[in-house]
Order: sequence, then structure tokens, then C-alpha cells
Amino acid sequence: MMYLLQLKICILSGLFLSVFIGFYMMSEKTNKHDPISQVTKSGLHTTKSPEETVKPTKPLTETAKPTEPDFFGDKYTSDDNLLQDSCPTSIRKKVLRSDFGERFLPNIPVLQWAKHFSKPEYKRLSRYYGAHGWGSVDITVLQDSLAILNVSANRIMFDDWEERQNGSQCIRCAVVGNGGILKGSKRGQEIDQNDYVFRTNGAIIEGFEEDVGVRTSFYTFSTNTLRNSLRNYAGLGFNGPPKSKETKYIFLPDHDRDYILMRAAAMHTKIETGSERGVEPKQYFGDDLSVEKFKMYHPDFIRYLRNRFLHSNTLKTKYKEIYRPSTGAVMLLAALHTCDEVNAYGFMTADYGKYSDHYYDKSFHPVHFYANHDLHMEMVLWQQLQTAGLIKIYMHT
Ligand SMILES: *[C@@H]1O[C@H](CO)[C@@H](O)[C@H](O)[C@H]1NC(C)=O
Ligand SMILES: *[C@@H]1O[C@H](CO)[C@@H](O)[C@H](O)[C@H]1NC(C)=O
Repeated sequence: MMYLLQLKICILSGLFLSVFIGFYMMSEKTNKHDPISQVTKSGLHTTKSPEETVKPTKPLTETAKPTEPDFFGDKYTSDDNLLQDSCPTSIRKKVLRSDFGERFLPNIPVLQWAKHFSKPEYKRLSRYYGAHGWGSVDITVLQDSLAILNVSANRIMFDDWEERQNGSQCIRCAVVGNGGILKGSKRGQEIDQNDYVFRTNGAIIEGFEEDVGVRTSFYTFSTNTLRNSLRNYAGLGFNGPPKSKETKYIFLPDHDRDYILMRAAAMHTKIETGSERGVEPKQYFGDDLSVEKFKMYHPDFIRYLRNRFLHSNTLKTKYKEIYRPSTGAVMLLAALHTCDEVNAYGFMTADYGKYSDHYYDKSFHPVHFYANHDLHMEMVLWQQLQTAGLIKIYMHT
């Protein structure tokens, strides 16, 4: 039996958002009225040692229940020859010699596009729900949407690198979360001097240029998180995704509404069905729209991140169905898999208690922890990636 479960939960990617996740649950025992906020305060994310939180990948059959042999699905398709590889000091070269070498798949498809759709692939991926597969998307919707993602800008993260590189061999990325640590940081210029700048969700720029920069090359979001950012941060100055000539939009699809919105935006049409009915995509993304503006994370990539990088203890609880890496974590790990150098700003650090949730908060709000993400585990992962010399995380010294 399938139940549609609407859970009011909060998604944090350096953000404090109330969202509704429409989620199909397979279990008959699921109680629709489970108060998820209780879990958020129940110590689900209490302090764990780094050794406990991130272990090298184990055979996942150990953790999967016999009744759900395919929940984790630690097998992925692969894409060859998509990465620019001229940089002698790239993350992908360093990672093989690091503790992360074993779990890292250099050919994991970070993005999905027309080529990825086929009936056998639909069969394989419709076993996984939310952001982890195509189980929440009707086959026709999926096929129609992916079919239009068929130009190089949809396949490769840095499709314009050749025009931009100007003699440089290495792609340097700034990945900007929305954490309060950025307030007063004066890192804006430093951020903008990277080749590409990644941002996510309630990324408010106006009024914070000195601290967070002005450029946005990539904006990562799901339709859900965008709607909630608009609802929650409009009063603080968030009036939609950044818009500039260089800005590209990367969907983190966790519902069919993402596929529907992406298609409508690229095709300049109004949305006729579903939860975004009546929406004019240009109200989010502006008038300068074409299919080159859009990318979409591959569900294999999200599932791989969950299984191998953020295999949280939440996956042992009944909340495992709604658990996923936060939007900010997906963005940072996507940069790790595509950039040659990653400089991360505004992500959670061990002294997070000293900073407000967001750099744009008008008064102090402590960081909140919720059941669908494991921000503590994410923070430990950032520390480990930094110790391994793979990324740089901005910290107050
Ligand atoms: C995508 O483009 C290629 C040629 O570049 C073409 O062969 C293929 O049929 C296209 N796919 C779709 C789904 O339109
Ligand atoms: C290209 O690099 C040169 C030398 O580093 C610099 O002076 C110039 O401004 C750069 N051009 C662009 C378009 O970034």
C-alpha cells in the first residue's frame, strides 16, 4: 500500500526552512501524524566522534533490511570523458591517494540529461524515491523533461571553460553556503576571484556584497527549497534566485514538480498541471532563458552521496525515507566531483554555536537540526575533506 505522506519538516543547507515534502512511503505502519519536530529535538544529531560518523564504505547489504534489499542501491551508472583534466593538482588526482579514494567514483554522473533516459534505466531508478531515484516521477513527465536537456551545457558543469580559462589549467571554485560565519567576513572579493561561484537556496546578495561577493555561476535548489526560501526570506531580502548572464540553474530534483518546472522554464511555457500550476517560470529565473541555463543533478549522484559520504545514523531510523544530504551538501560535493580546487565559505564549522543560522539574519538564530538532514555529520565531513587536503573551508581563526 502506498500512502502519500505530507511532512512538515525543515531543510537546512545553511538555511532554516519550513517545507512540505510530498513523499511516497511504502510502509503501512507509517503514522501520518508523526510529529517530526520531536525527532529534531530528540538528540538524533548528538555529538559523535568523527570515526563513528564517516566510515569507509562497507558492503551495504550489511545495513539494508532483508525486506528492502534495494533501499541503498550502491550501484551506479557511469559517464566517461566528461571531465576536463588538464590540472596537475586537481582534487580528482589527490583524492585517490587520500582516505576518500575508496569511496570516490570519478565517473559517477553528476548531471543527468537526455542520454540517461531509457526504459531499463527507468526500471532501475524508479525503485528509489525522492532525490535518490525516479520513483516519484511519472515516466512520461521524466522522458519529456530529460529529452530537452540535450546540449553540452546540460552535460558538463563547466561547458564554457574553454572560453573562460585564459591560460589557466585548473578550475577554481568558490562554494558559498549561507551560514552566519560569513557575516562581517569581508570575503566577497576573494569569492568572486574564483573561476566559478556556487550558491544555493536563500542566497541573498544585495547588501552583503562585501562578505559574500556578487557573482553566481551556479545556483543549486529544488523547487521545494526555492519556494520555501521565497516564503521565509522575502522579508530579509530574498526575491528569487540570482540572475546574471553567467548564472546557470542546477535542479536537485526530489519530486516531479522539478522536472515539470525545468521543462516549462526551458520551453517558455506556463505550467498546466501539478503543484506549480499557473507558475510562470520567468518569475523565478528572469526573461533570459534557454535550455543552456539549466542542469539537473543525477539521482545516482545523490544516492551515492547519501550512501558513501553521508551515511547517517538516521538511515537506521524510520526517518530513513525522508533523509537526504542537505542542498548545500549536494552543492559542495558536486563541486568536489567537478572542480579542480574548492574553496568553501559559509558552511558549518565546529564553532557554529557562535554564529547565527544565516549571514543575513537580522537577529541571532541558532542553527537548527532536523530529521531529514544530518548537519553534524556534514560538518564532520567538511573537516575530514579539509584535513585530507581536498577542500578549503572558511573558518574564523
Ligand atoms: C540528443 O542529441 C543527439 C545528437 O546530438 C541525438 O542523436 C539524440 O537523439 C538526441 N536525444 C533526444 C532525446 O532528443
Ligand atoms: C587573462 O589573464 C591575463 C594575465 O593573467 C589578465 O591580465 C587578463 O585580464 C585576463 N583576461 C580576462 C578576460 O580575464
